[in-house]
Amino acid sequence: MDVLILGSGGREDAIGRQVRKSPLCGKLYFLPGNGGTACYGENIPGSVMDTELVVRTAKEKGVGFVIVTPDDPLAAGTVDALAREGIKAFGPDRAAARIESSKSFAKDLMKRHGIPTASYEVFTSLDDAIGYLADAEYPIVIKADGLALGKGVVIAGSFSEAEDAARSMLAEGRFGAAGSRVVIEEFLTGPEVTVLAFTDGSAIKPMVSSMDHKRAYDGDRGPNTGGMGVIAPNPYYTEEIAAECMDRIFIPTIRAMAEEGCPFRGCLYFGLMLTPQGPKVIEYNSRFGDPETEALMPLMESDLLEAMLATADGTLADADVRFSDMSSCCVVAASGGYPGSYRKGMEIAMPSEGTVYIAGAERRDGRLCTSGGRVLAAAAVGKTLREAIDAAYSIIGGISFDGMEYRKDIGRKALEAFDGNKSL
Ligand code: AMP
Ligand code: GLY
Repeated sequence: MDVLILGSGGREDAIGRQVRKSPLCGKLYFLPGNGGTACYGENIPGSVMDTELVVRTAKEKGVGFVIVTPDDPLAAGTVDALAREGIKAFGPDRAAARIESSKSFAKDLMKRHGIPTASYEVFTSLDDAIGYLADAEYPIVIKADGLALGKGVVIAGSFSEAEDAARSMLAEGRFGAAGSRVVIEEFLTGPEVTVLAFTDGSAIKPMVSSMDHKRAYDGDRGPNTGGMGVIAPNPYYTEEIAAECMDRIFIPTIRAMAEEGCPFRGCLYFGLMLTPQGPKVIEYNSRFGDPETEALMPLMESDLLEAMLATADGTLADADVRFSDMSSCCVVAASGGYPGSYRKGMEIAMPSEGTVYIAGAERRDGRLCTSGGRVLAAAAVGKTLREAIDAAYSIIGGISFDGMEYRKDIGRKALEAFDGNKSL
């Protein structure tokens, strides 16, 4: 079966390389793809938001399956448009993608179904928001309702910071329509855990847990980014906590979506915080995380394409979804300045061995050059977390380009927290 993958990140390269291992996989197309996917698939130029082009490409190439991983086309209803043409796709339809594209939808869903999350209020009026903030406890968290490239969350330490954030979103249009409604929520504390899970709307099969590192600089300092590195599994996520999350969060979420008439089929991303009161949902995403996927794919032992097809077909309960019990680490190399402005077109020197997923890089006259903020992700597995981290950094050591920046401490905080646990 020929397969079309939408997107151009390290996530799509990691998924592409895994899908390619499946005996079911024929030719692979990417729209638009990147300098990594071009090595084993055919890149088709264009925007993932051009739904007509996506549908036309799928038809013209006669692909049997389209994998939709980025949030924007999911929220725009690409999977619905493909379904109307009888083309099978991986990913939630537009109604189910609201679990990520509208934070107020997600929060109200959790409230209605008793799923643990931070307490909150939703506002569209600046005056009402300010009135609420005047009596609130600090710190407090202000979130733009819609998709804002991971930048729509402000943790405000004081009334004046909170007022500024609410004003910029509700009155000054900082995130456009995405910020015309805001969620103001209680500040939670505790270690963060990401769990990605396949679900076909009734069955759910979680993947290995992971820990993202969202801040740009070492020591969790600097601006928030899409993610600078990941370790998996997440050592905070014990079997007891996993069982609790399954009972109190994962299954109730799947049921809630089905009961509300928008069953979720695809990869559901649970962003969790392990608070002193138990695990709570910080956010849902309607897709694979990036760079979580780059850390998880090297651990996957069963057939990814088969799992994705079963997810789309509603037969996930019978599908084989298996991961190795090794540890994994991926470290992202970014262009200097990211997540702010950065230069492009730098030639990249690649290491002689090791897994490197390509993100913001393209081929120019046969040379791999930077074309984005997050340029690539080095990924490695090991018997222990320490081994995986060392191996990922040894790959990074073999990569260079002008202005290359990366965090030197991916996984360090987790290792320190579990100091003395030799099995890590
Ligand atoms: P989000 O885009 O919702 O994942 O938020 C980005 C980051 O902000 C999260 O990974 C958390 O570190 C932090 N965050 C979001 N909501 C809260 C909250 N209610 N309490 C504390 N931190 C939060
Ligand atoms: N790494 C966080 C995300 O994909 O949203």
